Amino acid sequence: MSTAYTPGLQGVVAARTRLSMVDGQRGELVIGGYPLEEIAERASFEELVFLLWNDHLPNAHELASFREQLAAAREMPAITRDVLEAAAAQKAPVIDALRMAAGTLSLAAPGESAIAGPTRDAVVCVAKFPTIVAAYWRMLREEGPVAPHHGLGHSANYLYMLFGERPSEARTRALDTYFNTVVDHGLNASTFTARVVISTASDVVSAVTAALGALKGPAHGGAPGPALDMVFEIGEASHAENHMRSILARGERLMGFGHRVYKVRDPRADMLSRAADRLFESDGDRRLFDLAREVERVAIRLLDEYKPGRNLRTNVEFFTALLLHGLGLPTDLFTPTFAVSRVGGWTAHCFEQLAANRLIRPESEYVGESARRWVPVERR
Ligand code: ACO
Repeated sequence: MSTAYTPGLQGVVAARTRLSMVDGQRGELVIGGYPLEEIAERASFEELVFLLWNDHLPNAHELASFREQLAAAREMPAITRDVLEAAAAQKAPVIDALRMAAGTLSLAAPGESAIAGPTRDAVVCVAKFPTIVAAYWRMLREEGPVAPHHGLGHSANYLYMLFGERPSEARTRALDTYFNTVVDHGLNASTFTARVVISTASDVVSAVTAALGALKGPAHGGAPGPALDMVFEIGEASHAENHMRSILARGERLMGFGHRVYKVRDPRADMLSRAADRLFESDGDRRLFDLAREVERVAIRLLDEYKPGRNLRTNVEFFTALLLHGLGLPTDLFTPTFAVSRVGGWTAHCFEQLAANRLIRPESEYVGESARRWVPVERR
């Protein structure tokens, strides 16, 4: 047994999974057995979640009944709304409000059975996350929440609850592609958190709530807002080099670049860049898309110059920012919208962990003193 300390657990294999395979050297991602390029632009989000939970794509009957199960579970319990109202009164960030509200999902909404269990918890979390985020965002803007639309699919309904109108096919497809692209990604920090919690034989709502806390930080899911802010601050292509040189010269990081595992371009960045390209072609600010591509090109050149040999390349967050902006989402919603997708992965990992559970309990290396003597308080 290895007892060597590995900072950040880098390179340590702490789980076996069939959910996703990340090849950081070749820039490949496989989700539920399907290469990302094979599935992300074709499947609906419901199909992807079903695949992760059941290890096969649903047939037409299974898909219809899974869609119905999720659609029927979209309403929030009254207490969830109360928590969101209290959070809105203090203008709490959306991701914090989602984390506070997630904990209330152990309680049943009107008409729901109160019988707990991993499947019930997973359905409830996946189904209600969009409702919570959309309702809270509207509360912050002092607009009344829009009730879920039973007849719309998961992605279309999220856009409907945010903006109060049925989205076009193109916008729904773009959001499905985004959700599918980020639904699962190996043993990232939030997924690991969920597995650690569920491995103690805790419950899925607890695991998901803890995972939200891990997702929030800028080293994980909190980067896309700052990545887009940087593109806006740059404003035009001719300013890109000076702007980013001054960031790097101050020893700061360029948001949306670099990854613990990928040492080539993140395949999710390619997928989302294509989806954003299509969206901005039909519906959006083409100039912004072109500016972002130029910023990316200059950023890579400068990162190679300032950090030679580190292979810092574009990560998923850079084009996430662009795509979600193209869909009309403000930066405050970027990380919560990531969570609306990733909860599908977290719950799948909970099922997988429970199916062959062993308590996740690593060791620490003690580096403190060990022979201190007690000194009474008046002599310290
Ligand atoms: N800009 C400038 N320098 C960078 C960047 C960056 N974006 N990323 C890493 N570096 C540098 C570090 O300063 C370090 O330099 P040094 O060796 O001279 O000290 C070197 O590259 C290695 O960095 P680490 O911190 O060891 O890399 P780690 O694997 O821990 O970090 C991380 C990965 C956190 C994603 C990092 O690249 C980063 O902070 N990127 C910016 C934030 C971001 O985009 N986050 C989203 C990640 S994607 C996701 O989680 C969904």
